[in-house]
Amino acid sequence: MDFSKEISKLKKEKNCVILAHFYQTADIQDIADFIGDSLQLSQTAAETAADIILFCGVNFMAETAKILSPCKKVLLPEPAAGCSLADSCKVNDLKEFLKDYPNHTVVSYVNTSVEVKAMTDICCTSGNAVKIIENLPENEKIVFLPDRNLGSYIKSITKRDDMIVWDGACHVHEEFSVEKIIELKNKYPGAKVLAHPECKKAVLILADKTGSTSALLEFSKKDDCKQFIVATESGILHQMQLASPQKTFIPAPPVDSTCGCNDCKYMKMLTLEKVYNTLKNESPEVVIDVELIEKAKKSILRMLEMSK
Ligand code: 13P
Ligand code: SF4
Repeated sequence: MDFSKEISKLKKEKNCVILAHFYQTADIQDIADFIGDSLQLSQTAAETAADIILFCGVNFMAETAKILSPCKKVLLPEPAAGCSLADSCKVNDLKEFLKDYPNHTVVSYVNTSVEVKAMTDICCTSGNAVKIIENLPENEKIVFLPDRNLGSYIKSITKRDDMIVWDGACHVHEEFSVEKIIELKNKYPGAKVLAHPECKKAVLILADKTGSTSALLEFSKKDDCKQFIVATESGILHQMQLASPQKTFIPAPPVDSTCGCNDCKYMKMLTLEKVYNTLKNESPEVVIDVELIEKAKKSILRMLEMSK
């Protein structure tokens, strides 16, 4: 069966919009109506006029779409598509942790469960985290979670040295090898290094550009350099290569190259066949308790307001 053709027919019949993150496989990106980073995807989910949102990404992203569009049907082709970073901050552990930090504003990266978002004052993504922290009054006490690398990056830019940072990380971005990136820099002396702020500090020191997936994509389009070493999930290379066919994009290798760690195992659980079946059956659907939606929504709306 030609899944792409069938998906395209079905989505028109059902007034469905397909949103895909940059880390999805190339064939899924190619059938999406909108491809973006987590901030752009949440903005699009909040504004769409479609009846159905089919989300090609991971659980927390589809949950965010449901929180922002509770009356719409939100479909996620693989409910087991989680996130190691979101898993590193469990709601009960957070409750205990926050007992030590009363009167702190909780700023959560959007890579968190809906329950954690319900305990959050302001969400952020890698695309707006620095701006959001910079906009908080200097004397405001902040707990940032769950990514220690993004937290340390924000501190280095904003100089908010007293910001408390949760000790979580992403299994993909933690694994990039500094030594192997240096080897690649020696092999391609003109190449620039692009890195996501979830990478370790030692990798970010080597980066010519640090930013969200869309910021890295934009940089690769506009910069005159012809070769780029890319330290983020490998799915982004598809859009980079499509936008700049004359340039070379080299994926930064993980420490253990046999583990394929620059692929996110959760993002890569989705297939075109699963997307087709999900759209045909209108299932699996993301269902979240209404009260929980209301609690979690405030922190996301505050983020969207502060990102304008
Ligand atoms: P972006 O905010 O760049 O979309 O990244 C999301 C993510 O999950 C990174 O691992
Ligand atoms: Fe989560 Fe890391 Fe996958 Fe992003 S790449 S979705 S942070 S596990």
